[in-house]
Amino acid sequence: MSELALNTNPAHARHGANSGQPLTRLDGPLKVTGRAIYAADRRPAGLLYAALAVSTIARGRVAYLDVEAAKAHPGVVEVMTPKNRPPIAVDPDLRDHPFHLKTDVLQNDRVRYANQPIALVIAETMEAATEGAALLPPRYETEAARAHLDANESFTPPVVGIGNPAVVHKGDAEAGLAEAALTIDATYETPAQYHNAMEPHAIVAAWDGDRLSIDTPSQGLALAQGRLAGLFGIPPENIHIRSPFLGGGFGSKGLMTGPQVLGVLAARLVGRPVKLVLRREQMYGPVGHRPLTRQTLRIGSDGDGALTAIAHHTKTASSTFDDFFEPASDISHTLYASPAIASSHEAVRLDIGTPMFMRAPGEATGSVALESAIDEMAQACGMDPLAFRLKNYAEAEPISGKPFSSKALRECYARGAERFGWARRPLAPRQMRDEAGLLVGWGVGTATFPALMFQGQARAVIRSDGTGVMEIGAQDMGQGAWTALAQIAADGLGLDIDEVEFRSGASDLPDAGIAGGSAHTATAGMAIHGAGADVIAKLADLATGDQRSPLYGAGNAGVVARGGRLFRRDDEGRSESYAEILTRAGLGEIEGRGKSASDPAAQSNYAMHAHGAVFAEVKVDPELGQIRATRLIGAFAAGRIINPRLVRSQYYGGMIWGVSFALHERAVMDPRSGRVMNPNLGEYHVPVNADVPSLEAILVDEHDPYVNALGIKGVGEIGVTGTAGAVANAVWHATGVRVREFPITLDRLIGPAFLAVEPSA
Ligand code: MOS
Repeated sequence: MSELALNTNPAHARHGANSGQPLTRLDGPLKVTGRAIYAADRRPAGLLYAALAVSTIARGRVAYLDVEAAKAHPGVVEVMTPKNRPPIAVDPDLRDHPFHLKTDVLQNDRVRYANQPIALVIAETMEAATEGAALLPPRYETEAARAHLDANESFTPPVVGIGNPAVVHKGDAEAGLAEAALTIDATYETPAQYHNAMEPHAIVAAWDGDRLSIDTPSQGLALAQGRLAGLFGIPPENIHIRSPFLGGGFGSKGLMTGPQVLGVLAARLVGRPVKLVLRREQMYGPVGHRPLTRQTLRIGSDGDGALTAIAHHTKTASSTFDDFFEPASDISHTLYASPAIASSHEAVRLDIGTPMFMRAPGEATGSVALESAIDEMAQACGMDPLAFRLKNYAEAEPISGKPFSSKALRECYARGAERFGWARRPLAPRQMRDEAGLLVGWGVGTATFPALMFQGQARAVIRSDGTGVMEIGAQDMGQGAWTALAQIAADGLGLDIDEVEFRSGASDLPDAGIAGGSAHTATAGMAIHGAGADVIAKLADLATGDQRSPLYGAGNAGVVARGGRLFRRDDEGRSESYAEILTRAGLGEIEGRGKSASDPAAQSNYAMHAHGAVFAEVKVDPELGQIRATRLIGAFAAGRIINPRLVRSQYYGGMIWGVSFALHERAVMDPRSGRVMNPNLGEYHVPVNADVPSLEAILVDEHDPYVNALGIKGVGEIGVTGTAGAVANAVWHATGVRVREFPITLDRLIGPAFLAVEPSA
């Protein structure tokens, strides 16, 4: 069963009951007191420790490993290489499912990217395993690495993202550009980024015959279970995965990665439980990343500032052996109304690990380029960038022509602008200074993210003591998903949240779908809602069909569930408690099931997105070019808000990613060796507290009756989408210099244009 019954932990702060209430995280006390058990904390009896040896070259083959030296090291039990790796049932380079990426699990001596696993040393202690791995010193036959965007022939990918067409035209963009009064043509570059979750990928695996127990962080338990079942040729139900806590994921824990599979193989090889924890630098290759992009935006507008065309072209990279193509151009089909929009993608194959979805894959990269380009167009038109957006934002989804299922974007612009004080913004750049003489700039960006749903299931129980249970294999990466889901569960069961045992985080619970695509609360929440309704209907059936019940004859639809009782809808004076109903029926408990999926009818009539507007202030040192984001205000409309505290926290997180994208994050690739040169949190910069500006998130009320019965949209990824562009636009407004290479660092800013302007007197 599941490891965790969250509500048996009483210490979470209460502010009221259930949905809509800003409860603190139910698992918060466990985390801050160190009682939350993460995968790498597990130590089953007989445990051995594995250390990965990874390739230092990006392309070639491993010619020699000194396996004997490693094996001779005290404490080392075994060394796993392609020669002795246990068999797996399917070719790891077979792509038989959109979510089964090809993977490196020691199938041969080829090296396809730097940091690829080439051996695993298994020992009695972690130290012995690590030392053993250092005794392997591999020799390679090295081939020249292809490690930058122009290092290989380019081609049009078959699809981008998960199955989107690479080239899409709506109207005639070239004609729209030709007839435009004003055009801009600008190229933006974004670097490779790595997920850098705080918790590295870790696994503790133990075999018992053909049964497998695993502790590993996962954003998609059922998907992981299915993938491992396929690889090892055993039924999924033979595999039990526990993932009660994740120290972040950001997409990198969405699918089972090669190193996690290697942990399972190592346990098979030695016949004992094995723990493998990736070192930080080993996460720069085998567990996915956001690929670099070079995006060209050509935009046309008429003399009045109305768009006539958007042409968005992206060049990006995948690995030599698998397909993941960042769908960066797609966002241009969802945001601004233009009679003609063309998106296209082009890719090269490089000697890199296969990219993966990472924090708004496509939307984040595409939005920073589009929002910069829209700003450049506003500037060309001599218009305020917010006024330009208000003139051109779409009332219906441009690509499909379908109306949005709700329309709160205009209100997001208005509320954000009001709160920010946007009306005081001078049109020209480099007009504002603070009291210390720093240049001050204000920028705006539009945020958007699709409102997705996957398929999910849940099981609900009401017990004869009047309490409830909700079971769902949901994943909480730290965002507070379980807390929001427990709130939905309590409402669905007509109970207080403290009366519901919420069980989650293990693969033997009903499949909640993947915690990705900002779809988890909607997917899992709707399954929970359905399970609650099902069990309440059964309970009502028991009561309304029993002459001894005060509810007799009311019919299921004639009762409401609240506070652990069923009430007659037409006469609330007649009610009965769950406990009374079950006890009289002689039942210890009663169960219900729920399922969720998006509604195809609603989807064929409406385009479903969350929307928002982000306003940013930056300050730039006029002599040194040092940039600081100082103030961010985002206004977001994302349907029904289950827990405003957690939703704000998600928006803050997204907005901090946006600052990070605009000003900090960058994996520096050595084009000769094909190695990432800053594979650590010291040199791969993410914002620390001192980099995080004053943040405010405005929750704009939005009732979306079409997206799902609860009206829930996702909030996990939208925050990054408007923010990175808003920050970039603010840097322009502060300095008059447009940097089109991200992140915007001072060396990229302080060119001749920056210095040409007189510093402050
Ligand atoms: Mo997210 S990149 O959908 O985990």
